[in-house]
Amino acid sequence: MKVFAGSSNRKLGERVAKELGTTLLLPEKFVFPDGEERIRILEKVLDDDAVIVQSLSTPVNEHIVELLFIIDALKRSGAKSATLVVPYLGYQRQDHIFRDGEAVSLEVVIKILEVVGADKIICFDLHSIRIPELFHIPAIHLSALSIFADKIKELSSGLPRENFVLMSPDNGAVGRIKKISSLLDGMNFGFIEKDRDLASGGVTAKEIHDGDVKGKIIFIVDDMISSGGTIVKGVELLKKEGAGKIYVFATHPVFSQNASALLQDVPVEKVFVTDSINISKYKKFPKLEILSISKMIAGELRK
Ligand code: R5P
Repeated sequence: MKVFAGSSNRKLGERVAKELGTTLLLPEKFVFPDGEERIRILEKVLDDDAVIVQSLSTPVNEHIVELLFIIDALKRSGAKSATLVVPYLGYQRQDHIFRDGEAVSLEVVIKILEVVGADKIICFDLHSIRIPELFHIPAIHLSALSIFADKIKELSSGLPRENFVLMSPDNGAVGRIKKISSLLDGMNFGFIEKDRDLASGGVTAKEIHDGDVKGKIIFIVDDMISSGGTIVKGVELLKKEGAGKIYVFATHPVFSQNASALLQDVPVEKVFVTDSINISKYKKFPKLEILSISKMIAGELRK
């Protein structure tokens, strides 16, 4: 097996390669003055199984095109198979038509990956559990929830379980919160009813359901943090309802706009994310802690 990485998340590629006892290989990339890219594979890959680590994070369109060229170059060089490790699948929130006249962008991305020659894809914490069904190649859907559950066990050890509530900041993610609750021996959980204005992207946290949060330690668990609006509004509501300490867990640190500054200022103890997306040093902040998914990826690739 030969492990390659595109430019979106080389650090994760290196960690995965290390776990597998191999060295990460990098395609040669040249960018022409007009912005076109040329990708070249320097290693012999004839009859090899190739793995490509590339998150479809910002700049998403560039990362998609780069991934397509890497797959094509590997296949033309005789690689037997191309397994994509795409921990963060860009466009996943556009998996269906929300309003008349829209494109189903995720389906377009999937089609082109498959046409170019992807044989299998490994993703993490997809926005909807139905996304793997949109693929015609094997799509493995892994989750960082077990990594988060281990951290929550550490944070809650020695205190009565009634002191804690797991909280989904979004009504659509109740399934995820139930799963992590089952990993934590049925820890209490609730969810926040949230509204997002499709035109402006603005978030309103309307109401807390199920969980009594007064004086409790709250673990918010979400799939991703993009603008930070969901977390900020959710935390405001939780604090208004008398919540005690709040910890935030989210698999994908998309961190668009000024999310990092918002998260540092919001009254939470810590923000735990994974290395599914590489975070530039400018977007890191003191409350942030990054947990690695590299062992899980290597475990899946070894199968
Ligand atoms: C929404 O449905 C997702 O689960 C996340 O809550 C959302 O994408 C986070 O986005 P933002 O940080 O921009 O509010």
